[in-house]
Amino acid sequence: MTTNDVTIQCTINGEAWHGAVAPTDLLLDLLRDRLHLTGTKRGCERMACGACTVLVDDMPMSACGMLAVDADCRNVATIEGLGGSQSLTCLQEAFVTNVGAQCGYCTPGQLMNATALLHACHQPTRQQITEWMRANLCRCGSYAGIIEAIESASRAAGPASGTPVSQTAARAGVRDDEPS
Ligand code: FES
Ligand code: FES
Repeated sequence: MTTNDVTIQCTINGEAWHGAVAPTDLLLDLLRDRLHLTGTKRGCERMACGACTVLVDDMPMSACGMLAVDADCRNVATIEGLGGSQSLTCLQEAFVTNVGAQCGYCTPGQLMNATALLHACHQPTRQQITEWMRANLCRCGSYAGIIEAIESASRAAGPASGTPVSQTAARAGVRDDEPS
């Protein structure tokens, strides 16, 4: 710990965590390098690929674009908190069934972002899915399977509820139905 370090406290995958972080530490560094939550992937490190997507207070965020100090008093969820091998979520099962992954490198980020989408809107249209998931790139080109998986999981979730929001609006914490 240096004199510039800042002590933060937050919740990570449902468990309280507190510790000192440097003012320049990224949330991605904290998760992967210190807490060994390596399911959150390091990709472009420029907020352009979505591999590092986590949920912060239920909103999708690029962990490479957020300082660890800004996680203070926030609720962070990573892929490790989504569902284990014995307790896959409906969405995870749908990714398996619909071949929504090949090499799997982008999959944690895809799953976290899709989880946020289905939380915001239980039965999004294909267009809404495509727009929302635009922030997540897949070098293997599994896009068709990913969209099928999200549609399948949304069908299994039951009747429509929630208000569709755009990815951009969600990352800014703004719903489409709010006045701008
Ligand atoms: S590594 Fe964060 S968006 Fe690419
Ligand atoms: S499954 Fe390989 S990058 Fe998406």
